Amino acid sequence: MTQYQKIQQQLLNEPKVWLVTGVAGFIGSNVLEKLLLLNQKVIGLDNFATGHKYNLDEVKSQVSENQWDRFTFIEGDIRDYETCQLAVKDVDYVLHEAALGSVPRSINDPLTTNGTNITGFLNMLTAAKEEQVKSFTYAASSSTYGDHPALPKVEENIGNPLSPYAVTKYVNELYAGVFARTYGFKTIGLRYFNVFGKRQDPNGAYAAVIPKWTSAMINNEEVFINGDGETSRDFCFIENTVQMNILAATAPEEVKDSVYNVAVGDRTTLNDLYRSIQSALAENDIQHTTEPTYRDFRAGDVRHSQADITKAINQLGYQPEYRILEGISKAMPWYKVFLG
Ligand SMILES: NC(=O)c1ccc[n+]([C@@H]2O[C@H](COP(=O)([O-])OP(=O)(O)OC[C@H]3O[C@@H](n4cnc5c(N)ncnc54)[C@H](O)[C@@H]3O)[C@@H](O)[C@H]2O)c1
Repeated sequence: MTQYQKIQQQLLNEPKVWLVTGVAGFIGSNVLEKLLLLNQKVIGLDNFATGHKYNLDEVKSQVSENQWDRFTFIEGDIRDYETCQLAVKDVDYVLHEAALGSVPRSINDPLTTNGTNITGFLNMLTAAKEEQVKSFTYAASSSTYGDHPALPKVEENIGNPLSPYAVTKYVNELYAGVFARTYGFKTIGLRYFNVFGKRQDPNGAYAAVIPKWTSAMINNEEVFINGDGETSRDFCFIENTVQMNILAATAPEEVKDSVYNVAVGDRTTLNDLYRSIQSALAENDIQHTTEPTYRDFRAGDVRHSQADITKAINQLGYQPEYRILEGISKAMPWYKVFLG
């Protein structure tokens, strides 16, 4: 039995109360779905800045009526401290996912990104500490590796941030460390590498590459590759990410006050990604034969990214269940219905 299977069994036997911030977003709604399927009680907080009510409706359609009744939604903003206090009341485990993602968004509007990702984060961290919750797990980011050239990325070795977004995510880690040292409130930061899967928003200027390209290919639109296509990423399927959230939330004190890479340990170039999506679509009878259009590199982007996931394996019992191609296949039915 894996550690993940063991924890799921324990949670089913003894359900807990969870707060998921950013619950109407991509990662938050997938975490919500899993927790409800495990009969957990979940409080969700979101202001719909980038999340959608239809994500919550979709989760509702995936769980039983009894499971859905265990969910309470608070529409509110993490920049408001009282809202955070209300949300953490009587909660066991906090999964803090709410933030404004996207490197380009942060370059265009650093103030708003700072407000949500730093002030909002500090509000949640403080409220959770005051409530003395059992654990606080937060979404950190691989962008914290910045310009450090080493590959694969090991948690201890980070470089200079390359965007305001990266600064905000690094500041989260700094605050988390200070809260452990000053108040004894130990947390876990999950440095997500490029996560993908169902309910990831394909729309807008700040959409992530996999849903954006898949949508464009299904709808026969032009696909743009920023740079020469040899930029690489460690793409992580959402179910691996959900696993890490549950492992981190329930982890023993001795492995807290720490950050963990959340990825697979693979490296895929954008050119390879393009071909992989193309062939996954072809297997689903969707032919997209047009060549991509190459344009300038994007400011603030890290050139290569690949995680060393040894720490998560050794300390949390993480066992990623999906590599990129398996993840794309698993997400394909959703992409066909919702991106078509
Ligand atoms: N998706 C990735 O590849 C990736 C990579 C690294 C880190 N992350 C981090 O993971 C977390 C979740 O990302 P996601 O991909 O699900 O993005 P998302 O945009 O789908 O979800 C974020 C959610 O937070 C909510 N939110 C934003 N500002 C808020 C505020 N002020 N108050 C309350 N709610 C607010 C949004 O409405 C949205 O529902 C974020 O912290 C992001 O920075 C994601």
